[in-house]
Amino acid sequence: MSLPPLRIALLHGPNIGQLGRRPSAHYGTLTLRELEDRVRGWGEERGMAVGCFQTDHEGSFLEHVHGLAGIVDGAIVNPGAWTHYAWSIRDALEVMGAPFVEVHLSDVEAREPHRRVSVVRDIAARAVWGKGPDGYREALDHLSEVLS
Ligand code: DQA
Repeated sequence: MSLPPLRIALLHGPNIGQLGRRPSAHYGTLTLRELEDRVRGWGEERGMAVGCFQTDHEGSFLEHVHGLAGIVDGAIVNPGAWTHYAWSIRDALEVMGAPFVEVHLSDVEAREPHRRVSVVRDIAARAVWGKGPDGYREALDHLSEVLS
């Protein structure tokens, strides 16, 4: 008997839709579509169905996250610059009620001081940064452990 796939939301905040045009030294060269395809593929290999969402609008992000409560088993979230100051994002992730991994492509701990602050870190199941796209694979592995 095969189990239904775990439902994982892949959530991206502002400017992440511009991947491929942002400084490659920090963010690499993949576009968001390519990154999403890669994460979806890694998810399939792990029995996970990954649904993707990105917006530059805080209210849209909040409403989307509210709607995920009871719908998803877990999430991977790269809130972009919201990470560093947007308390409303943290509150919405709390409402979502599913374990999530905070992921950053770049090494936020080795960049400007404001990037070392994360308002979501203490409610995240784990945080991964500085590993590029591979950080998302690590996040899937962690969710797989947490949810099994
Ligand atoms: C980022 C790091 C943030 O500081 C930045 O504002 C981003 C992307 C990352 O993936 O490394 O937009 O979250």
